[in-house]
Amino acid sequence: MTKTILTGDRPTGPLHLGHYVGSLESRVRLQHTYDTYVLIADLQALTDHAEAPELIRRSVLEVALDYLAVGIDPGVATIVVQSGVPELAELATYYLNLVSVARLQRNPTVKEEMRQKGFDADVPAGFLVYPVSQAADITAFRATLVPVGDDQRPMIELAAEIARRFNRVYGPVLVEPEALVPPVGRLPGTDGGGKMGKSLGNAIFLSDPADVVVEKVRGMFTDPGHVRASDPGRVEGNPVFAYLDAFDRDPAAVDALKARYRAGGLGDVAVKRRLIDVLDAFLAPIRARRAELAADPARVADVLRAGTARGRAVAARTLADVRAAMGIGQWDAPVPEPRST
Ligand code: TRP
Repeated sequence: MTKTILTGDRPTGPLHLGHYVGSLESRVRLQHTYDTYVLIADLQALTDHAEAPELIRRSVLEVALDYLAVGIDPGVATIVVQSGVPELAELATYYLNLVSVARLQRNPTVKEEMRQKGFDADVPAGFLVYPVSQAADITAFRATLVPVGDDQRPMIELAAEIARRFNRVYGPVLVEPEALVPPVGRLPGTDGGGKMGKSLGNAIFLSDPADVVVEKVRGMFTDPGHVRASDPGRVEGNPVFAYLDAFDRDPAAVDALKARYRAGGLGDVAVKRRLIDVLDAFLAPIRARRAELAADPARVADVLRAGTARGRAVAARTLADVRAAMGIGQWDAPVPEPRST
């Protein structure tokens, strides 16, 4: 079996360091050994931004620039714009019948997002069922592996469940995917919050200019008990150290800093100064490539058009197999005996 990756992002703004740690890094690393598809999920973006279509439209290009700037290579990976693949919506329609509303309401990530977005009782139907549409994205490309942040684990489990159920009911057509979650876990926000989020005001974006990064790091939450440099400080739950763990190329130096911080005698300012240097070393080349690509939007558009056409062909083949297995659209042919299950 060929090894295939499908993963993606909602285009509701530029991507940030949390996206990099959670998923972009794996995609760039694995794109040469896996058949890789990366989906810009503009239809999924509508499920929580129905009233901001201009934002989504603008963000498709932003996200594409982020992908190319971090090193997703359109020569080996296929970048697909979801709205260019209507087959995904048809697949989702079939899958909606294979999952219960109660099952969807139990999804911990959806519950948490509903709370954050203040949806409560007013959740859009499309939002509640977006994990089903995501199952369509994943299975349409016959993905075996889905590199995602920790919060997306329940989505991949649901996709596997739907694939299993489909295969049992209609015949073996779909591939059951597995999640690939990085060991680092999720990157906290600059405010020390559990997750870096575009809409939470606690993100450092891959496209942030150097001076903005400096300001954001200076304003970062640390250990509130670490008042004077001479006080012993806590490393656990301190986002400055979480970022150093994720981005510093010299883990031994980070361990030494942690020891000094714990013992007392190392100020937040010094640790933040190191983080500023580390992030600048990481982001400067990304920023430069991004600026170069942004100056040539026609080239980026060509990448998206070509990728979407290639992706659509793959999804269309899966949809044809799905329809054939279900006998959908074959009302004019003799009806076979029911499958024994
Ligand atoms: N739900 C993902 C997010 O919030 C985006 C996404 C859409 C996705 N389709 C996908 C992720 C398919 C993995 C696979 O970022």
